[in-house]
Amino acid sequence: MKTLLPTPLKYQKNKLSFEGHDLQKIMKNKKTPCYLYSKKTMTETYQAFYKEAIKAKIPNPLVCFAVKANPNHEVLTLLRKHGAGADVVSGGELKAALKAGIDPQKIVFSGVGKTKEEILFALRSHPYGIYSFNVESIEELEMINTLAKKENKIARIAFRLNPRVNAKTHKHISTGNKTHKFGLLRHDIEEALINSSLWTHSTLVGLSIHIGSQLTELKATEKAIKEMCDLAMSLEHPIEFLDVGGGLGIDYTEKDRKELASISAYMKAVYQSLHQHYFKKVDPLLIPRIVFEPGRILVGKMGVLVSKVVRTKQSEDCHFTIIDAGMNDLMRPALYEAFHEIYPYEKTKKLIATDVVGPICESTDIFGAQRKLPRLKSEDLVVIDNAGAYGRSMANRYNERELAPEYFI
Ligand code: LLP
Repeated sequence: MKTLLPTPLKYQKNKLSFEGHDLQKIMKNKKTPCYLYSKKTMTETYQAFYKEAIKAKIPNPLVCFAVKANPNHEVLTLLRKHGAGADVVSGGELKAALKAGIDPQKIVFSGVGKTKEEILFALRSHPYGIYSFNVESIEELEMINTLAKKENKIARIAFRLNPRVNAKTHKHISTGNKTHKFGLLRHDIEEALINSSLWTHSTLVGLSIHIGSQLTELKATEKAIKEMCDLAMSLEHPIEFLDVGGGLGIDYTEKDRKELASISAYMKAVYQSLHQHYFKKVDPLLIPRIVFEPGRILVGKMGVLVSKVVRTKQSEDCHFTIIDAGMNDLMRPALYEAFHEIYPYEKTKKLIATDVVGPICESTDIFGAQRKLPRLKSEDLVVIDNAGAYGRSMANRYNERELAPEYFI
């Protein structure tokens, strides 16, 4: 099992195990398809992320887990116990974060479409509201300021800068350029700053960026941080924090394994960029804390989707392995042509090329084309790897299917 980051999967005597337990035994009384999560792997990854931040001398790091990657209650509770905050993008995610006991003063609220109700909910979640509204338009700031006035509060604001960079990733998950709906261009932020009517019940406490997801290289991140630092340098007042967003990828493929920056390299690059363009130019007492919004890197590897073979089918030279998980359970292959490794429970030498498909009535319901797998039979277990992030959180009930249950090992 090739992987750069910790994984709970391992073959022991040619049988697949999850966190040291035989998969077939784990699955004895469980329905398929289902998600299996490893608390150990998640803890190890979180701790590595935080430790590398400290090692790289990132000042007072705050890790706000991007809840959209996996809003499971136990996931959020465990991360909270380790000290994490949350990056939320809806009232529902905010509710989930608060339910898991995450301190509102560790919650940042991103997203271009925050509604009146969601803003009020955030303002009321703590005497001081939440840590920050990461504002993505002037119109949004206007609404927040008006609502804060009604609530007799001062809203804490960070501008999400659109740094005009092209992050090298799938086009559907790149977010840092002008054509994307995200963030504000620098000149719009500057205009907002001098419009005093926007600031009667709001205060600028930070700046943020988030340029895309599943990033393997660091150049665009460094450039975006520079843009944010340049803007921070031009502000009249010091700010409390700079939020460098999320985006660091995991290794799904062999190519990723060659290209992916390690957590340590990522932290070093973030620090270098901040130091060069900001820290070394300001009074050390005014150095802001650094906020991160990682999603995938913290939970991607700790989860798998377990499925059973329903039957196989041969159409002339095309062989299909039909499993009981569908694209509704894991949307990533259908949405982004994402590659997820598929492992059979039992490893054998003799392999065939087969298309691993689900039961949904769409041709995009395919988890892998021409995969080299044993000739499987009905009831055999297969595991779709690296499904802890954007797996269950994006699942839906298409074809009136049940949502897959989630289990912790
Ligand atoms: N912060 C903001 C404002 C975001 O929009 C996102 C992800 C993150 C942080 C976390 O990014 P991460 O560290 O997980 O890369 N469904 C897609 C990914 C969409 C990401 C959306 N935003 C996928 O399955 O690849």
